[in-house]
Amino acid sequence: MQAAKPVERRDVMAVLSEELKEKIRAEFPKYPNKRAVTLPALHIVQDATRSVSLEAIREIAELLELHPAEVHDTMSFYGYFRDEKHPLGKHRVWVCRSISCMLRGGEDLLADLCEKWNVKPGETTEDGKITLEFGECLGVCEGAPCVLVDEDCHPCMTAQKVDEILKKS
Ligand code: FES
Repeated sequence: MQAAKPVERRDVMAVLSEELKEKIRAEFPKYPNKRAVTLPALHIVQDATRSVSLEAIREIAELLELHPAEVHDTMSFYGYFRDEKHPLGKHRVWVCRSISCMLRGGEDLLADLCEKWNVKPGETTEDGKITLEFGECLGVCEGAPCVLVDEDCHPCMTAQKVDEILKKS
């Protein structure tokens, strides 16, 4: 029986396009050193590829002159980032479940969206369009219950209103 050929670096397909690498390099002048670019780099990669894979971690580390474990440590500290086994959908929807929103129907809204999209919090719809999450206070308590759709916070939400916002996105 023939021994398996060891995987060489050049056999692994690169994850970061030259454009993504350029975006990360463009952050360098804004920070005191390359290590400080770890979080911006993770955001750039996740925004573009909907997760940060092990290979992406290795490539980020190479750009920042760090050990991949250092990038992985930073990434795994924040629940915000997703690995390749749990990629984000096209849209990420956060339902606030802190006190003001909870008292004004936030938990029911979360349950309604779970049922409507057939997911549990943290999961992505089968068509890959929506990842549903629960979040803590979004800072717009006077508009409870609030929902963050991608980057935008929306007050006084119902499941139907969330659907309408997503249809327009
Ligand atoms: S409690 Fe939901 S926005 Fe503050």
